[in-house]
Amino acid sequence: MSVSRRTLLTTAAGAAVAATAIPPVALAADSEAAVPRTFSRAADYAVAKLRAVAPGVTAFPEITRFEKWTYSANGGWIGGFWPGTLWLASLYSGDRRFRELAMASAEKLAPRQYETTHHDLGFLFYPSWVTGWRLTGDEKWRTGALNAAASLIQRYNEKGRFIRAWGALGTPGNAGRVIVDTMMNLDLLTFASEQTGDRKYLDIAVAHAKTTERVFLRPDGSTPHVFDFDPGTGAEIGPNSVQGYGPSSCWSRGQAWAIYGFTTMYRRTGDPLFLRTAQRLADFALRALTPDNVPVWDYLAPQAPHDIKDSSAGAVMACGLLDLAKAANRPHYREAAIRILTALCDTCLTTRSTRAEAIVARATRHRPAEDGVEVSLPYADYYLLEGLLRVLMPKEIDQAIDLSSVS
Ligand code: GLY
Repeated sequence: MSVSRRTLLTTAAGAAVAATAIPPVALAADSEAAVPRTFSRAADYAVAKLRAVAPGVTAFPEITRFEKWTYSANGGWIGGFWPGTLWLASLYSGDRRFRELAMASAEKLAPRQYETTHHDLGFLFYPSWVTGWRLTGDEKWRTGALNAAASLIQRYNEKGRFIRAWGALGTPGNAGRVIVDTMMNLDLLTFASEQTGDRKYLDIAVAHAKTTERVFLRPDGSTPHVFDFDPGTGAEIGPNSVQGYGPSSCWSRGQAWAIYGFTTMYRRTGDPLFLRTAQRLADFALRALTPDNVPVWDYLAPQAPHDIKDSSAGAVMACGLLDLAKAANRPHYREAAIRILTALCDTCLTTRSTRAEAIVARATRHRPAEDGVEVSLPYADYYLLEGLLRVLMPKEIDQAIDLSSVS
């Protein structure tokens, strides 16, 4: 299908969805009873949008340009989120077409299970293939996810006890570079140990998480985006940044990845260090959150908190906080998560646009590069839907992504 024809169709589809969309100012956030209705209306909106847009999508939505998706052919680091979103839409709606589209999209990631050139295997294969296996029982998804875990552990640096984020193995660029995002790739490894009975995956995940706790966590609970090591000796060099403002700032999506990732590692191991760490990270982010409950892109940039927003940080953080509330038995984290999700539903959905192909607006990809400032991003959509379903359908979301804890 030509771009112009697709644009035409999806513009029409966007208009159709917008016409039946929820009003942008939803029900009162302070009423507990009102929350599920706000959330189910937002989930209905998400599903209606996906129903209109998904049939025209043939690659992986990466970022919007003037509200229309632009695509990655092989999925970059974001290829897991589109099939993941479709799996969640199938759970929420029961519509089998989403299931078929999810499988077709996930299948496109098949050649990537053997890649050893980056750390993103968890982002790519957990919401797509692990979820695919959990929802269909088809062995192909499980085997592929295990192959991806085997690829990921090849990036483990024994001297520094970390998983290298970027750069092909055997090349010197970025060989000692660790990023906070990698916390989200560790659950693929815990899955691999649980499935195979081989502890090596879990041991590497635990070692990496402990290194992250040691070098990234500042006394106030904030984190830098990057930490560099000497790759040969494993000696610490120091904090750095690519997507945050600088080495001593706190990129909000990175902080959210860490909250989510450490909480998950606590559930998988029962190690109280990971729970304490998740709480320190969450406490910092909640202190830094503005009354509108949508994170600024970097909590410690010079203009913060009066700076551009990143709704994706809010969506990821809300999912982590819902999990943390349970893990730590601290209801105030759940209350904060509900406030954030409500703010995303009230102030960040694309409901007022007749053009928009995404569900969530106001997400920021890479502020320092001025690349994707307050746009739509597939991970904002995915984690918003995950967060809504964590509240609306806890059993079903557990079935999709496994929210169990070690006993
Ligand atoms: N993991 C890359 C990002 O969060 O932008």
